[in-house]
Amino acid sequence: MYDADESQQLAAWARDAGDFPCQVVSAATAFFADTMYPFMEPERINLVDVGHAENHPEIVDSVLEVADAALVTVSPTQPDYQRLMRPEKGTPADEDGQAVREPARHRRPAPTTVVLLNRCQAGAKSTGDYKSKLRADGWDVLTSTIPRREAIASVVGFPCDKPERRAPYDQLVTEFADRGLLK
Ligand SMILES: Nc1ncnc2c1ncn2[C@@H]1O[C@H](COP(=O)(O)OP(=O)(O)OP(=O)(O)O)[C@@H](O)[C@H]1O
Ligand SMILES: [Mg+2]
Repeated sequence: MYDADESQQLAAWARDAGDFPCQVVSAATAFFADTMYPFMEPERINLVDVGHAENHPEIVDSVLEVADAALVTVSPTQPDYQRLMRPEKGTPADEDGQAVREPARHRRPAPTTVVLLNRCQAGAKSTGDYKSKLRADGWDVLTSTIPRREAIASVVGFPCDKPERRAPYDQLVTEFADRGLLK
């Protein structure tokens, strides 16, 4: 994994958890494509976490230059919807994954970009409402959703071996694989 979010919370989690299942490289750089990508192992799955695209477009652009797929996580709420579609400050994303600016220097074809709804309240109407709204706006929204759960809220910084968290993410990985997004 690569932590390309200025917050560096993923890297800190890997350092603190004790049982983190993979290596995390600190990589919050606008030169990601030039300085990190050449050292990735293409036969393995490489996951890059980025921060808020509208606030760090230079980092996100550089990651999107080399990504095969982009997963945009959004909560089914008005603030998250607004931040994706029409941020008050910064640059909006668009559904081709050209997150943010003009095509960059070595841009390959745009990565497949899908939206994951997270923090979905069980039984709430908002999940379906925002799924429809985002689809109508042209976004490819995954069928899998992640429920709002206390056991997920408190994961960062703590040990990873909590089997009760796995089910929604298993479903997400299955959908990713079924759609050919995992090689
Ligand atoms: N499924 C969930 N259920 C409950 N709380 C969640 C869930 N997923 C995330 N959270 C909480 O929502 C907040 C944001 O989560 P997270 O850091 O994963 O989002 P993010 O989009 O990566 O945010 P940032 O851009 O700040 O890194 C955290 O407080 C986290 O504990
Ligand atoms: Mg984050």
